[in-house]
Amino acid sequence: MRLSVIGCGYLGAVHAAAMASIGHEVVGIDIDPGKVAALSRGEAPFFEPRLPELLEEGVGSGRLAFTTDISAAAGAAVHFVGVGTPQQQSGHAADLSHVDEAFDSLLPHLRPGDVVAGKSTVPVGTAADLAERVATTGATLVWNPEFLREGWAVQDTIDPDRLVVGVPEGDEGERAAGILREVYHPAVAKGTPFIITDFATAELVKVAANAFLATKISFINAMAEIAEVTGADVTLLADAIGHDVRIGRRFLGAGIGFGGGCLPKDIRAFAARAEELGRRESVSFLREVDAINLRRRDRAVQLVIDGLGGSVFGKRVAVLGAAFKPFSDDVRDSPALDAAVRLRGLGADVVVTDPQAIENARRLHPQLTYIADRDEALRDADAVLLVTEWDEYRRQLTPEHAASLTRGRVVVDGRNSYDPKAWRAAGWTYFGMGRP
Ligand code: UDX
Repeated sequence: MRLSVIGCGYLGAVHAAAMASIGHEVVGIDIDPGKVAALSRGEAPFFEPRLPELLEEGVGSGRLAFTTDISAAAGAAVHFVGVGTPQQQSGHAADLSHVDEAFDSLLPHLRPGDVVAGKSTVPVGTAADLAERVATTGATLVWNPEFLREGWAVQDTIDPDRLVVGVPEGDEGERAAGILREVYHPAVAKGTPFIITDFATAELVKVAANAFLATKISFINAMAEIAEVTGADVTLLADAIGHDVRIGRRFLGAGIGFGGGCLPKDIRAFAARAEELGRRESVSFLREVDAINLRRRDRAVQLVIDGLGGSVFGKRVAVLGAAFKPFSDDVRDSPALDAAVRLRGLGADVVVTDPQAIENARRLHPQLTYIADRDEALRDADAVLLVTEWDEYRRQLTPEHAASLTRGRVVVDGRNSYDPKAWRAAGWTYFGMGRP
């Protein structure tokens, strides 16, 4: 099928490349000429495992092209819209200006019978409004939320755990759902759940999923806070409750908390939307989820201060990690970078290292010192703060090796990734998050 993908960020670029890899003819469209130039050369403009191979193959085969010219969307059977919906500059609601601009520019190029599939995460009610505008062209809008995780985005796109499509009522909706089944034929053929809903449900599925995941993380971080005043170990607690299949161990990793371009802004936008709908109290717990999450950053910083005897002023702190999680170069709302900035604000001599995210981090926080080489970053540090659990900082870093480089022996494990016994045995003063 001929497809267009509007917006080539973390979501759209992967979607375009993945759709080409399963046999479609795809044009990706973005307003950023730099991004389009890189993608057109078959190069990924950001770090995402497996994406470079898919781009090279797609662009090489001629099935995948990128442009800044929206008129290239004309003639595609399905147009995916995957532009960003960041938090508004002031307030917690989602900024829909990119969505509005994308639809404004796409509308003149639609033909009767085309399907427009919205993928951006939007406040419930958005699709119904957009559907009216799309209908004036004779095309049909569906809402097809995306659940991909950065770092696993290619796999999550080609082989998702479920497909959700919100459609308008009647024959038109059924026809559009049928077309989306064709688009996702390999996943549909292997029996991936394909859930057809109304617009509001499809929009809510996405924010509800992210709200649940954020709540799960903040739940275990709340238990970490209790563990900290009782001497309990939250990692053992998570293992023990996680054996209950109704609870499950995944997403019970206590630590410095969640960040990134999705969970933080999505729970805020959800709360803001609920308030508009007169249902503030229904999701008021999300404010608590947010507050717990942010307190963990304070805690990690406080542990470094405590570890250094009450002040970080003039002390060298090696911060291991800048990305919001491993296998990503994304630093949006990264707890790792936030902790680094706060420590610097307190007068520490902060050195940040990360295998992929330094360029993005430097753009956002040029005041910090970045050293790509892990061992050089550790050299002469008075304290070490692990905040992004890349393999090079956990499995591949022994406490003995770290001790051979640093000046001090204070380690704050912001992701509960280390074995406290091993670090203590090597002479370190070890602090975990919710661990004795
Ligand atoms: C998330 C959702 O998982 C995905 O389905 C949705 O489409 C987009 O938002 P992503 O932002 O890529 O994906 O990251 P995710 O893997 O969910 O991690 C989010 C944050 O939570 C990271 O900062 C991670 O470090 C943190 N996290 C995750 C924890 O602190 N503890 C955990 O146990 C798991």
